[in-house]
Amino acid sequence: MNRNIVCIGAGYIGGPTMAVIAKMNPDRKVYVCDINAKRIAAWNSKNYALPIYEPGLVDVVKEVRGKNLFFTTDIKSAVKKCDIIFVGVNTPTKMFGRGAGRASDLQFWEATAREIKGYADGDKIVVEKSTLPVRTAAAMEAILNGGTGNGERIPRAKRVAESDALAGVGTGNGKAGTGIRFTVLSNPEFLAEGTAIKDLLSPDRVLIGGPETVEGRAAVREICDIYAGKDGKWVERYKILTTNVWSAELTKLAANAMLAQRVSSVNALAGLCEATGADIDEVARVMGADRRIGSKFLKAGPGFGGSCFKKDVLNLVYLCETFGLHTAAEYWSGVIKMNDHQQERIVSRLFKAMFNTLANKKIAMFGFAFKADTGDTRETPAGYVARLLNEEHVRLAITDPKAIENGKRDLAGLDGITWEKDPYKAAKDADAVLLMTDWKEYPALDWEKIFKSMRKPALVFDTRNCLDAGALKKIGFRVLNVGK
Ligand code: NAD
Ligand code: UDX
Repeated sequence: MNRNIVCIGAGYIGGPTMAVIAKMNPDRKVYVCDINAKRIAAWNSKNYALPIYEPGLVDVVKEVRGKNLFFTTDIKSAVKKCDIIFVGVNTPTKMFGRGAGRASDLQFWEATAREIKGYADGDKIVVEKSTLPVRTAAAMEAILNGGTGNGERIPRAKRVAESDALAGVGTGNGKAGTGIRFTVLSNPEFLAEGTAIKDLLSPDRVLIGGPETVEGRAAVREICDIYAGKDGKWVERYKILTTNVWSAELTKLAANAMLAQRVSSVNALAGLCEATGADIDEVARVMGADRRIGSKFLKAGPGFGGSCFKKDVLNLVYLCETFGLHTAAEYWSGVIKMNDHQQERIVSRLFKAMFNTLANKKIAMFGFAFKADTGDTRETPAGYVARLLNEEHVRLAITDPKAIENGKRDLAGLDGITWEKDPYKAAKDADAVLLMTDWKEYPALDWEKIFKSMRKPALVFDTRNCLDAGALKKIGFRVLNVGK
């Protein structure tokens, strides 16, 4: 077994994760592959115009690209060169057929499994890096090794015989019948966008789930060694947690559901604060001081966005339904329902504050990314709110430091939307500024200048509670916040 690593999928997870793995393991070659040639070209671009924005990422890529980190569309030769294969392809919510709107769409993942089977010419460790429903590893095993997909391990001789029956189902070069052994592990990723490099360099924990067999345990040790880094200089051993495969798969969904639940809970309380005169930031500060509750993920706002929370909670809902746990399914559905409600409430409050008519008014939306320090706009609250405002015939001017390109693509086809790099230009002649993303640039803007350029009465709706409301009021703004 060689020590080289390939990751299939060069997205928000594959790119940064492999860049840091390469940095911390200079004695290993790391290949990152994708079917999207444009994305690979961007990863390889001379001027480091990488396909995603992530603080600190360019520096890591500069350090390792071309030395021991390689981006390529040639999946076949990368699979042949590497005995450790990470799979980091996208697993979005399925929008058709059985489980539509809740289950994960596993078509990209399954295509990858078949590619691996087609190209492999020796034993491989296959590591699920994508977030997947529990027991997906059994299906991965069934495709790679032959079997029932129920998760039981079948004897090697039988496996070899059965794999003959699967020959030809892959991409054409299937090596079924050669007795190649694939060991499937789960190693979910916990990094958050915007802090990916920091999270990867010093994670709270690394999770590796493996089968409780001799081969399984050996494979888990191999992956532990990667995270320990060369000369043990990366993740401390006590932070590398090992479990069985099913626990690892479920833990990832569970962790995201718990975090999303906190955001929905605090937003549910925010509405009550608005109605009663309590202040959600004060409530959250005091709640968080109880160590049993903790202070993180208690920030009220426009609701959660991003590619993970909604998808993973929906996936959990679908799993609960599949196993007949209907009350649990309903419980987790409430987290999503509360999130949608929070965004609808933003528009209702704006409507009321702007004299019950928004038609033809200009609103400057400050921030379109789902959070600060990323250009990612997947499931961004700003997208949903922008659509609702568009239905009210608002003239929307959207500004964002990093997300304009993605935003334009998301809202393509909607009339009445302009995009401005410069927030001052976006706010000129506007009736309101609607702050959706907590970019650190926004509190530092010259708000007096913005006030002077706006139509009066000028309103600021700060959905992140990140501006100095007192100072804005002194300038002359009417101010709305969340949970106050
Ligand atoms: P992404 O869409 O940015 O990247 C996935 C990449 O996989 C795409 O570039 C796509 O072209 C490529 N791909 C799809 N099918 C392929 C195939 N057959 N062969 C080669 N490449 C293929 O997605 P992402 O945000 O990186 O997420 C990937 C997985 O990681 C998902 O399961 C997600 O839930 C999980 N995850 C994401 C995050 C995050 O912060 N984005 C965090 C933790 C876990
Ligand atoms: C999340 C998980 O945090 C991470 O562990 C997992 O690997 C991927 O999913 P991410 O979606 O990148 O990461 O960002 P995160 O920081 O979790 O924020 C998610 C959303 O919740 C954002 O829209 C953010 O603005 C919102 N949020 C977060 C709040 O509204 N309040 C909070 O207190 C925290």
